[in-house]
Amino acid sequence: MSAVVVATAFGGSEVLSVIDEDVPTPGLGEVMVAVRAAGVNPIDFKRYSGAMGADPSSLPMRLGVEAAGVVLSAGRDAVSQMGLLAVGDEVVGTGLSGAYAAQVLAPATAFVRRPSTLDWQQAAGLLATGTTAIHLLTAADVTSGDTVLVHAASGGVGLMVIQLAIARGARVIGTASPSRHDLLRGYGAEPVAYGPGLAERVRALAPGGIDVALDLVGTDEAVDVSLDLVANRSRIVTIAAFGRGRTLGIQLLGGGPGADPGTDIRYAARLELVQLAEAGTLTVIVERAFPLAEVAAAHDLVRLGHTAGKVVLVP
Ligand SMILES: NC(=O)c1ccc[n+]([C@@H]2O[C@H](COP(=O)([O-])OP(=O)(O)OC[C@H]3O[C@@H](n4cnc5c(N)ncnc54)[C@H](OP(=O)(O)O)[C@@H]3O)[C@@H](O)[C@H]2O)c1
Repeated sequence: MSAVVVATAFGGSEVLSVIDEDVPTPGLGEVMVAVRAAGVNPIDFKRYSGAMGADPSSLPMRLGVEAAGVVLSAGRDAVSQMGLLAVGDEVVGTGLSGAYAAQVLAPATAFVRRPSTLDWQQAAGLLATGTTAIHLLTAADVTSGDTVLVHAASGGVGLMVIQLAIARGARVIGTASPSRHDLLRGYGAEPVAYGPGLAERVRALAPGGIDVALDLVGTDEAVDVSLDLVANRSRIVTIAAFGRGRTLGIQLLGGGPGADPGTDIRYAARLELVQLAEAGTLTVIVERAFPLAEVAAAHDLVRLGHTAGKVVLVP
């Protein structure tokens, strides 16, 4: 038996519970992984909130798209991007269904090896935000010498974007609450407070102009300031403003309507993330870890929208 988190209805975190389920045997190309930690992402609570539809046939709903763990058993031909997986391999995976669990079954292709430089909790938070960050930088064609404005730079995706953009030689100006400014400076970004007067504050920091704007929050302010400061709309990219964004000629990425899922870019990005982590160029900031049984508290915290880096669940 394995403990598994499910949403039994649509609503707030009160609909979450932990149940025990039989553990299936991996089939062709699949592995069963003992989860050491699972990453929490905003999409996890959006899925059962009702905001993305409320089809009763999707209940009970398993949650969690990313985890780090150890291969417990493997089906035939369990070949990952990094070769055949075997019992005992330490892996990280994304694109999972039901990672909030003691054990998760998935195709071997969902996993790559765990970077030796990251502990279990950090590793659990590497791939979902990291692949999104690489997709953002690739779509905006961020290169050395670019000045990049990142909205919501202290969140899970934001801290990845900062590190990866600076590794490409870009200058990064990131919006965040003042209490997060030292954190951003520590990763080489120049912080600026969001809120009224944002465009003027950014202009004062970068009188030479902004080449790229990456919107990770989807507010009108983030979109308007991006349009104001970046002349080339193809270098304004959002992962959150799917409603307004569609009418503006800017790039939309991810699973939202009209957005580019970037499947191949994100798949290839996983190896790059492992290599960058092992080279010491990239790390994962874990704000807080919760036991699996406290998943509701973890979601209540992330839903407030002011965590820095990742929140993870530990079975
Ligand atoms: N389309 C895709 O492919 C894709 C992929 C991953 C995530 N997403 C979406 O992208 C968003 C960010 O994800 P995440 O994992 O980084 O979330 P997160 O870790 O919860 O980060 C939230 C961040 O938002 C910032 N923030 C809150 N209110 C703000 C405001 N009014 N203006 C500017 N920043 C504000 C917070 O900064 P302070 O704490 O400093 O206030 C915090 O850093 C979510 O909506 C998520 O669903 C989309």
